[in-house]
Amino acid sequence: MLRRLHKDQPESFAFTPANLAWARGQISKYPEGWQASAIIPLLWRAQEQEGWLSRPAIEHVADMLGMAYIRALEVATFYFMFQLQPVGSVAHVQVCGTTSCMICGAEDLVAVCKELIAKQPHTLSDDGKFSWEEVECLGACANAPMAQIGKDYYEDLTPEKLRHLIAAFSHGEIPVPGPQNGRYAAEPAGGLTSLTDFAKGRARYNASAQAAVDLADTVRRIDGTEAPLTTPWVPKPDAPQAATGTPSEPKPGAGAVADATGVTVQEAPAVAKGRPKPSPAAEVGVKPATLDAPRGGTGDDLTLILGVGTKLAALCHKLGVYHFDQIAAWTPDEIAWVDANLQGFKGRVSRDKWVVQAKVLAAGGSAADAEAAARAAT
Ligand code: FES
Repeated sequence: MLRRLHKDQPESFAFTPANLAWARGQISKYPEGWQASAIIPLLWRAQEQEGWLSRPAIEHVADMLGMAYIRALEVATFYFMFQLQPVGSVAHVQVCGTTSCMICGAEDLVAVCKELIAKQPHTLSDDGKFSWEEVECLGACANAPMAQIGKDYYEDLTPEKLRHLIAAFSHGEIPVPGPQNGRYAAEPAGGLTSLTDFAKGRARYNASAQAAVDLADTVRRIDGTEAPLTTPWVPKPDAPQAATGTPSEPKPGAGAVADATGVTVQEAPAVAKGRPKPSPAAEVGVKPATLDAPRGGTGDDLTLILGVGTKLAALCHKLGVYHFDQIAAWTPDEIAWVDANLQGFKGRVSRDKWVVQAKVLAAGGSAADAEAAARAAT
């Protein structure tokens, strides 16, 4: 199947504040220079928040991790778990079509999806509530045929049972996941023939179904407030900082982009052999006034500028840029110099209207105000 970005894309993407904190916690798990390793959890959380992965979401995550867009796009398009087109506002139904499920009736389940949702997979139903696709084995073969709806498995399905499930979801109900034919788990259809004591005193549902019932997030979009990631290794914002001024923000990847192709420092050793050395930064424009350190010991949060992630903010710091008012004062010649010296991110200052945004932020405006100003200036 050809996997490419959807033709209709939203204007922008932003994590909810809680999801942003969660994402930064994820990034902080990885050692200096390996932040790109957080690509899958961050893309996944973006999908959990929106239902699917848009181009702005992929680029936003790439910016946060200091990755070239093409690297993040490679990941998003490689893994089928990432939805590259809008999914149903209520649920996306994934019918397993592999051997066990196929010989137990998966094709009949697909027929129900075609009838009730849409003739073609990855297409929204008329009311926008549902979408569907056929997927490969989901590892519940002993309970074939089955489908994943939202996050959970609905097993031992029949066409009638799937119809009933879709109708229930449509009415706002969340049917209990797990076997739909009365089985507790994956025991013989006629009941336990051994270890029969196991049935005494067990929970009402098997562990997976019980967890799904307890969490009640089968088809819920995730905004990050559900179960915040605990990051005891990240200093609290109000905790005293080390004398060295170590920021509480997760360190940006030292995997600085090594050249204009987007190869990171961590990737460079693997590919450097036999490849021409990256050319030095272009000597263009005029270097703006820079600082050896942030004034008062604390710089502004440059990631409030749309298009600036932790990696780009770190590059700015390396160039001696810490404050919005520094950026706001750049002349066209100075913009050209910075654009040419942002390794791997050349042209971002102009493209994302940093100066316009920085003027708003330096004047006390919000990130949303800055973004609106940048869009108006486009
Ligand atoms: S074949 Fe369907 S879950 Fe394995």
